Amino acid sequence: MFGIKFGKITLTASMLAVFGLLSGQAGAACNLVSTKAGNAPLNIKFVDGDTPEVKEFLETCVNPYTKKYASDPEAAKAGKKLFGYYSCTQCHGGNAGGQTGPSITDDTWQYAKHVTDKGMFETIAGGSDAGMPTWHGQVAGNPELLKTDEILKIEGWLRSIFKGSGPKPWLDEKPQ
Ligand code: HEC
Repeated sequence: MFGIKFGKITLTASMLAVFGLLSGQAGAACNLVSTKAGNAPLNIKFVDGDTPEVKEFLETCVNPYTKKYASDPEAAKAGKKLFGYYSCTQCHGGNAGGQTGPSITDDTWQYAKHVTDKGMFETIAGGSDAGMPTWHGQVAGNPELLKTDEILKIEGWLRSIFKGSGPKPWLDEKPQ
């Protein structure tokens, strides 16, 4: 009797351990949602090859590159390079000042949530109903498209070249 009971307890504990490993984190998670109508969850997972910055963002909604690039324009160039590589420039212009797509460097935002790194990430990763394509490989189901780290780097660069006159709340974001 005792043996069987003990066996069950052990099984339960090891099952919990397995769940802990699979989710890769203890509790904290950034609940990303689509910018498109319905605001469905964006199920973006930490995958092989992802960076510590990705882990931090997926757990806290804070993009570590934003603060880093604000004080390091050299490092920020990594984001600018990706912006060109993935042809964001075609619609937004070489310095993101706007073409057929809107400027991303002024203080006019398409959606109020774009003043947070989470909100802007959601529009880049999942696209919008008004012309912004879906860029995240996991969301689009296309591994050729962007990885989480690449979107975070682009976003960090975009924040670093902000030319608007308003405040920069993205520099004071707290873990959610
Ligand atoms: C085919 C044209 C097109 C391409 C290519 C494109 N975008 Fe966009 N983007 C848009 C449009 C149109 C909007 C406005 C969407 C809306 O209002 O719903 C937008 C909006 C945005 C916004 C929000 C801007 C604001 O002022 O609130 C960001 C950030 C953004 N795009 C980033 C990117 C990035 C990064 C890439 C490349 C990975 C990219 N875009 C590629 C068309 C494009």
